[in-house]
Amino acid sequence: MSIKSEILKNLEENKGAAISGESLAETLGVSRTAVWKAINSLRKEGYQIEADSGKGYTLSAQSDFLSKEGILPYLNTPVPILVYDSLESTNKTATALAMEGGAYQTTILAGTQTKGRGRLGRSFYSPEGTGIYMSMILEPSFDLRKAVLITAAASVAVAKAMEKVCQVKPEIKWVNDVYVNQKKVCGILTEAVSNVETGQITHLILGIGINCFTEHFPEEAGEYAGSIQGEFSKNQLAAQVINEVLAVMETLEERSFIGYYRQHSMILGKPIKAFRLGREGSRNGTAVAIDDNGALVIEYDDDGTTEVLSSGEISIRLGDKHD
Ligand code: BTN
Repeated sequence: MSIKSEILKNLEENKGAAISGESLAETLGVSRTAVWKAINSLRKEGYQIEADSGKGYTLSAQSDFLSKEGILPYLNTPVPILVYDSLESTNKTATALAMEGGAYQTTILAGTQTKGRGRLGRSFYSPEGTGIYMSMILEPSFDLRKAVLITAAASVAVAKAMEKVCQVKPEIKWVNDVYVNQKKVCGILTEAVSNVETGQITHLILGIGINCFTEHFPEEAGEYAGSIQGEFSKNQLAAQVINEVLAVMETLEERSFIGYYRQHSMILGKPIKAFRLGREGSRNGTAVAIDDNGALVIEYDDDGTTEVLSSGEISIRLGDKHD
């Protein structure tokens, strides 16, 4: 880590409290001038750092730039973190890195995305400063026919992180959209990287976009787009998402997350409209169950039959409200 990064890490760990230039210099084994230069450089990047001659340097409690140094103190286990100001898509960069042999668990974050990707070829609105756009490179150490499990498990990880860090009450709309107050605040896109020669999937790219503090959304973001508000740090939320994703992936096969998934489901027991991808029209029914593989069981209104659906085949809307 550079001196600047070390100083930022120390300031982030003591956010809102002063640390003397002398103790920073001593801890890092550098001169006070080097500390002062690094502080100035951080200020130029936009960090609000106050200096009080008696007390030292304080990173403002309001400072909320996504940074590696801001995330690391909150991680249960350190993972490689790369933070960019702007990227086309964190999934795209993570895929390229994975193909070059990037380490599993590496997490790429961006302050904004110019071509954020959504599911089903849609785009994902990724404005600067108000969201968390992140992609984790994961090892596909499980049967990929259970891909729906991964994506459902990821939504549980995000919802748990939001509950802990932002004190909100998230709900999950099958298969992996996270809603707060009836608004979609998070979208998840999982992509696979395969070896062209062997055809084997070598990496999974788990892309997570969380809207925080966004006030206005363009029409293309969809009428249900919303954001989480409140007093929380984006760095802490990003770190908690990483912690929860790593924890849930450890126990994926045991499906211990399914209980939480069902309890927080926005659709279980409710009337829904099922849209088959690539087909005209929709069918009305009730979401009667989510099975142990994360698949949705629908009972259709017209003939009372039930069908088990996995995410690739269908998109759904809540029937009553979203007609
Ligand atoms: C969806 O709701 O359709 C999924 C949206 C996924 C968006 C995230 S933002 C970080 C990562 N990079 C991307 O380009 N997409 C995902």
